[in-house]
Amino acid sequence: MNESIFILQGDIIYTKEAGKFEICENGYLVCEQGKVKGVYRTLPFTLGGIPVRDYKGKLLIPGLADLHIHAPQYSFRGLGMDMELLEWLNVNTFPEEAKYRELDYARKAYEIFTENLKKSATTRACIFATVHREATLLLMDLLEEAGLGTMVGKVNMDRNCPDYLSEGSAKNSAAETVEWIQDVEHKKYKYTRPILTPRFIPSCTDELMENLKKIQLRYSLPVQSHLSENISEIAWVKELCPQAEFYGDAYDRFGLFGADAPTVMAHCVHSDEREIERMKENKVFIAHCPESNMNVSSGIAPVRRFLEEGLHVGIGSDVAGGTTENLFTAMAHAVQASKLRWRIQDESLKPLRAEEVFYMATKGGGEFFGKVGSFEPGYEFDVVVLNDSRLKHPQYLDIQKRLERMIYFADDREVEAKYVGGRKVL
Ligand code: GUN
Ligand code: FE
Repeated sequence: MNESIFILQGDIIYTKEAGKFEICENGYLVCEQGKVKGVYRTLPFTLGGIPVRDYKGKLLIPGLADLHIHAPQYSFRGLGMDMELLEWLNVNTFPEEAKYRELDYARKAYEIFTENLKKSATTRACIFATVHREATLLLMDLLEEAGLGTMVGKVNMDRNCPDYLSEGSAKNSAAETVEWIQDVEHKKYKYTRPILTPRFIPSCTDELMENLKKIQLRYSLPVQSHLSENISEIAWVKELCPQAEFYGDAYDRFGLFGADAPTVMAHCVHSDEREIERMKENKVFIAHCPESNMNVSSGIAPVRRFLEEGLHVGIGSDVAGGTTENLFTAMAHAVQASKLRWRIQDESLKPLRAEEVFYMATKGGGEFFGKVGSFEPGYEFDVVVLNDSRLKHPQYLDIQKRLERMIYFADDREVEAKYVGGRKVL
């Protein structure tokens, strides 16, 4: 399966921009050296003789990008959903994450996580691990073996968490992070990259943030964290960082808010004008996590506004704030949440449409990984083959309508094949 050039035949649908599908019925999607060469209605003469893999009657879509997911939380998804964020972290999350000190437990849990992510339509993901260096490496080994394109973070926490999980001091947290990065360099992974992961402002002292900035400059690393998720969290950040103009400024003061390196912030449910402006200036990516925002009663992010402002927006499952890694479900939640927001909170922001959430789940988030999430020439050949025949239907449906139904119904049963950077991983 390593031919340098090959062709998939099927019903092709993707987006170049939010709000407009590009469709090619029973067309040809050509891969050359792991990249998209083009989409063709009829094969040009020069491509004659090249092997064609037959996916006729199936949908060919770009692989989905999960911009925010917590691997160690996969084990308790769907449990303890009656709390708000800060209580939920203390009661559910921290005790579970502490278990990843034990490598036996970590291996069992991360094998299940990786297996299910591999079966899903996700080809790229930004993943939080825990504070534990060894368990994080183990997760990275498994993801590398699965062939998914991921960025994985060893979490940093040196305050406001139980002793059993805290890294104790900024110095220790920074030293563990450097050791982890050096271990990762020795592994020479092809598809798995490290990402700096200060959990959120309440978990990280100023001294730790200063250290992380130095580490970022030394190793040129991207950053992921949480931002303006929940009302009580935001009030807490104000208390902890009275100097910061707004929550995002508390990261920016340390140079950890996109100014020097690709940065993705999850949630942004309550971002104010200044925060939105700064994210735009610094080209921060937003991971919209609608299910999590409902489950821990955070609210509904103004995604239409982000799109109108030209911000980079992708979709995150945020397991276990969200219950599922299935990004089709996350797309449906994004549409549904936007409708409720429009109806009960702010009529100026129209609900999201399928072609907008699909863009967010493909190219919108994919761009965090480079040229990913579209079938334009030169994009990474990330493709999911969806067999939608399980959903029987008495009438003719065009390709766009079939995809719309996939957004509401698809799970791993529909994923028949999956390519990442031209490699068939499923
Ligand atoms: N903020 C800090 N940590 C977390 C987490 O694990 N999940 C979510 N949803 N928000 C957070
Ligand atoms: Fe999260």
